[in-house]
Amino acid sequence: MAAKSKTEVRKELTSYFSAAQGRVDRWRALHRLARMLAAGTADFESVRVRAAEDLASLAPIEEFCAYPGPRLMAMLRERLQTSDWAGFARLSQRISVSLLSNSYRDDPEAWRTEDESEPHTPEVLPPGIGRGQSRKPYFEVLVVSPGERSTWAETREGLRRLRRETDSFVYEPVVVGSFEDAALAAILNYNLQAVVIFDGFPYPSQHDVSDLREILAAQVPPEAVPGTDLGTTLAKLLRNFRPELDIYLATDRDVDALAGSDEASCLRRVFYGLEEMLEIHLSILDGIADRYATPFFDNLKKYAQRPIGTFHALPVARGKSIFKSNWIRDMGEFYGANLFLAESSATTGGLDSLLEPTGNIKVAQEKAARALGGDRSFFVTNGTSTANKIVHMALLKPGDIVLIDRDCHKSHHYGLVLAGAQPYYIDAFPLTQYSMYGSLAIRPIKQALLTLKAEGKLDRAKMVVLTNCTFDGHVANVLQTMLECLAIKPDLIFLWDEAWFGFARFSPFLRRRTAMGAAAKIRDMMKDPAYRDRYEAFRKSVGEIDPRNRKLLDTVLLPDPDKVRVRVYETDSVHKSMSALRQGSIVVVADQDFHRIEPMFKESFFTHTSTSPNQQIIATLDLARRQMELEGYELVQRAIQLAIELRRDINSHPLISKYFHAATAEEMIPAQYRQSGFTDFGAPGWNVAKTIKALDGDEFFLDPTRITLLCGGAAMDGSQFKGLLAAEYDIQLNKTSRNSVLVQININNTKSDAAHLIKALADISRALDKRLAEGGGAEQANFAARVKSLVEDVPDLPDFSRFHDAFRENPKGSSNEGNMRAAFYLAADPAACEHLKINSKELDERLKNGPELVSAKFVIPYPPGFPIMVPGQVITQETITFMRKLDVKEIHGYNASLGLELLKPSALAALKGKAPAAAEKSSRKSTVEA
Ligand SMILES: Cc1ncc(COP(=O)(O)O)c(C=O)c1O
Repeated sequence: MAAKSKTEVRKELTSYFSAAQGRVDRWRALHRLARMLAAGTADFESVRVRAAEDLASLAPIEEFCAYPGPRLMAMLRERLQTSDWAGFARLSQRISVSLLSNSYRDDPEAWRTEDESEPHTPEVLPPGIGRGQSRKPYFEVLVVSPGERSTWAETREGLRRLRRETDSFVYEPVVVGSFEDAALAAILNYNLQAVVIFDGFPYPSQHDVSDLREILAAQVPPEAVPGTDLGTTLAKLLRNFRPELDIYLATDRDVDALAGSDEASCLRRVFYGLEEMLEIHLSILDGIADRYATPFFDNLKKYAQRPIGTFHALPVARGKSIFKSNWIRDMGEFYGANLFLAESSATTGGLDSLLEPTGNIKVAQEKAARALGGDRSFFVTNGTSTANKIVHMALLKPGDIVLIDRDCHKSHHYGLVLAGAQPYYIDAFPLTQYSMYGSLAIRPIKQALLTLKAEGKLDRAKMVVLTNCTFDGHVANVLQTMLECLAIKPDLIFLWDEAWFGFARFSPFLRRRTAMGAAAKIRDMMKDPAYRDRYEAFRKSVGEIDPRNRKLLDTVLLPDPDKVRVRVYETDSVHKSMSALRQGSIVVVADQDFHRIEPMFKESFFTHTSTSPNQQIIATLDLARRQMELEGYELVQRAIQLAIELRRDINSHPLISKYFHAATAEEMIPAQYRQSGFTDFGAPGWNVAKTIKALDGDEFFLDPTRITLLCGGAAMDGSQFKGLLAAEYDIQLNKTSRNSVLVQININNTKSDAAHLIKALADISRALDKRLAEGGGAEQANFAARVKSLVEDVPDLPDFSRFHDAFRENPKGSSNEGNMRAAFYLAADPAACEHLKINSKELDERLKNGPELVSAKFVIPYPPGFPIMVPGQVITQETITFMRKLDVKEIHGYNASLGLELLKPSALAALKGKAPAAAEKSSRKSTVEA
């Protein structure tokens, strides 16, 4: 009994999102037990039994990792068996600390026992610090061997013998002997960068461990179950799971035929039999060098080292005006010399031109496209705000109709004004209780497309714009959304704003929910005979897509494989989720018809791109790609695991949970969109298999790294709470709502960061407890009233009303697109505008009896950050009520001292007379015909 109180319950690996984290936790637990044994704990025997069990439970997992490896594992076992408790504690400490800090990646001492080296202080600083320039990045190579276990040591040794001083990287081989064990190694081992498959191995795992079985069952899809050829089936599975891995196949099949087949497309190289070990070794290093190379950054470093005289307009280049200055020398000291040495406004010296890349920027963009799964990519140095406008302007012409989420980022609304395309606004589902919108469901998008079809306007519906994921973490079912839309209009273009979601590409779980992940899937599906059969059956039962058929809204629609054009654009704020400098963004493209719009894309790129793009932003885009291709899997898995633990810690903490709550998937997504019944990460009964089921089937999924932390229960609104965290606890947040703040976890966060937040929440909760206990009835009543006001008395969210008739081509029609650009430019004339105070009687009078109030501006309150009015929109009571209840200071497009800016009824009437819609129509006619 006593032992139980001191030793923790061993958590199943399946209770972790990242089983690799579970492994490290087990080592830490083992180390604690070893310390107890060395200190001579009272309940010695039960602790000893527990330590033996824990070590045994680690043994199969360690077979998938090179460190600590068979040698140190055998020594640890021996020390346990010979009751060398001090030695057992020292070695388990060394291993546990090395794993926790990853010091084994560059510290040779981690690989020895204490008797084999000088006394050793475990490295707890980030790897590389203090180890100088000579450090070689470390990785591991998985070898899948058909040989007996007794031959594995020789296989490992054989590869080690091929190492040379001149190698740029160093790797350790990990040998496994079956299909299932190879899959487990790819899941569990973050260090793997390459896999060498020697054909002829069996399927089943060599370990009969229930945890591992469950991990496999959840993550190895049924289609990966043995076909005729295990080698290529395994290669395909691994490619799907971790596309960054370089996969080599050594086989005695007819390699010439295999190498040229589709089967080999997932392989980096094919080798014949065992004859080419040196070639394999060199290929492995070459593959890593390819991912490691950052063409633009590498050149920039070289450029910075050259003694270049500059005679162009950029005084900071080379830094002489700074380092010699009497007054701004601290600028140089703060930023360091390299920033200035690496600056130039020229495109010579190997720096290439972002506007017309032909050299290293071109190659860097190709690599980024590969990493993110697109056909091509374009670096953008002014944020996704600009990336979005580039795509709008490149793909749209005046008069085109765009189906768009009304609460998407403002860059899209402005992009539409620039392009002259007409928005067909669709509202996302509301989360009134948190004063935020969710995301755009498939049904209303289909409804809009069918309405356009019924009105004969489908040919003008050019693009759908969606946010994935939303600021608050709603992740769309990208695949199903696109398939169902393509069933109605097979050449529809999709712009997925993935400003927050770039990292998702590097998660085997989230990847399916990215634009590029789904575009690749659609390409495969359209070629697959099994899909064609499904489509034929669908076609037989549903017939032609008839917009009068209401049943279509509730039927899962399938597109015609002969008609579909895959035209998908994704924009990522690389700076928001990867290691790029602020404003580093990218457009990723998978468009079968790109050749047709390429000239317009260029024009649009030229329109929006500075002729002085920042070199450092470009370089960090290049570097962020390198990092994600080499350690994205590890970083993203860790971030998700951390976020899930933080959610659990907040909601299960007895004190914190009295006042605060991390909103669960169940609370953030209405039940009708969670078809799998998924409720929460880490809830009782939760596991990875259930998460994957939700990811595959549910209409919406909650990104676990975006935590809506409800603070209304602590009687604080989002802004107040954000201010408190910043002022008292040095904790910075970005987004708030009426009763919540958003806690974002990314690849930069650590367990210590999470502990910092938990400590702050606990301190605040304790202070609240004290205040309420000591403040008496009045204090408690005040507190309860404030909580009620924040949590229950929430304003309804104003849906998009409609465009004023002056901006609609057919006011009697049902489709709601409008000529927003005409309204925007009408407002440019002050004589066409008037102001009304938000609380004035006149405004109430106009709402009641007209003439209609029509917004002249985009009005965007922060929070919630979406336009509650757009130019040309009729303002309704709902919007005014919402605005009157808003207690935020920052409202873009609204000046409280002047009032709401409206388009004058007379100006609207005159516009109707001039029929601007008709003028637009004539230009549109030509575009539609074109
Ligand atoms: C959904 C969405 N898209 C685009 C942007 C703009 O991105 P950037 O800050 O990179 O310009 C934001 C910014 O918050 C956003 O939330």
